[in-house]
Amino acid sequence: MTRLSLSDAPEISFEREAGDDPHAYLRELREQAPLARGMFGMVVALRQRHLELVTSDLTRQIETETKLMQGINSGPIFDFIEAAMLFANGETHQRRRNPVSRTFAFKLMDAMRPRAEALARELVTARLHRGPCDFVGEIAAQIPARIIAEILGIPASDLPTFLVWIADTAEALGFVDPERRPKIEQSLVEFNAYVADLMADRRRSPRQDFITDYLNTTAKDPDLTEIEIRTQVVGLILAGSDTTRGSLCMTLAHLLNHPDQWRQFCADPDGLKKAVVDEGLRFDPVVSGVPRIAVKDMEIDGYLVPAGTPIAVSLLSALRDPDVYGEPDQFDIHRTDHPRWHPIFGGGAHRCVGEALARAEMEETLAVIAKLAPNTHLSGAFPNLASGAIRQISAMQVTFA
Ligand code: HEM
Repeated sequence: MTRLSLSDAPEISFEREAGDDPHAYLRELREQAPLARGMFGMVVALRQRHLELVTSDLTRQIETETKLMQGINSGPIFDFIEAAMLFANGETHQRRRNPVSRTFAFKLMDAMRPRAEALARELVTARLHRGPCDFVGEIAAQIPARIIAEILGIPASDLPTFLVWIADTAEALGFVDPERRPKIEQSLVEFNAYVADLMADRRRSPRQDFITDYLNTTAKDPDLTEIEIRTQVVGLILAGSDTTRGSLCMTLAHLLNHPDQWRQFCADPDGLKKAVVDEGLRFDPVVSGVPRIAVKDMEIDGYLVPAGTPIAVSLLSALRDPDVYGEPDQFDIHRTDHPRWHPIFGGGAHRCVGEALARAEMEETLAVIAKLAPNTHLSGAFPNLASGAIRQISAMQVTFA
């Protein structure tokens, strides 16, 4: 078979990809070739079938490289990235992930459903029939932050400070605005100290809770450092905040934008909540892609991708792949073609450890809104997700009625 050369693959226009309609642009690219060429020599795989290969052992996770490219080579942000499971490979990754995946288990996350339901009920009731509210700040950011605070056993009086730390330090995961760096680093230092205190407290007085279980599990591995143990706790908090917040906003916005489907959902919230979340996560994905570096020569749809090449699966494109989804550009809560493993949570060794929690939070919050406020509507501009690794949500005003 003839090997295709990467130089024949179309080059991505950053302006168009970051423009008003990235989905239309990616559809054009998909129609030309299965791969495209992005910035810094990055190969962008456009089809869903590529996810398995790109997250296989033919590639490795990018470690501190993206921070080094931004000139961040020391300090709290660098230390955090260097110790986090998400940016580690091989045995180091496994050692950091195992104690988390054992203790942050499906059972614990699913058990948070009634808490997510009660919290959503409290927040929505407080805003019911009161005119437009800032849905992003008052609801969507609160749910993941307060639920993880409960899992960690953080007292309610510490919540306001905890919320500020999350908002600041989540920025450490993506491209860091140099002007914001001092503030992000200051918050990260305080956040680390707080989590270290929390861990010291559970070591002194064990409880029946996640932190105690997690610390007991980490104690079995003498090679794990104190910084690694602490960083995974901070990492859990950050990885679950902007992702769940943006997904919750866009899923509600698209539902309200399809009044027939919103009415159907209001008629059977508990029966449809899983399908609604599956479709919301597909239609406007909050994570734009899964990036890696090829460690061996790879062949993708006839193209040779040499070892050393940075490669990413575009989730924006893969989740509209017409080989997988009928009418991919239609928002349809009744579709039956979702794959068993939703690609928005990645694949391979780094597949999201918080999927069940994110689903529980989103499903319960949306079902509460449908039950308490079926006449809910958007009160300002339709929101959007900016381009970036974790796409940040714009403002969103909602009236609960
Ligand atoms: C809708 C919400 C969420 C989405 C779309 C999402 C998506 C993802 C994706 C795509 C990855 C893999 C990244 C890669 O391979 O490069 C990932 C990893 C991860 N996620 Fe999530 N996530 C969500 C919510 C959560 C929550 C709620 C938590 C925890 C509270 C969480 C914790 C993590 C952690 C710790 C990792 C790193 C896993 C590893 O490196 O082994 N995520 N997530």
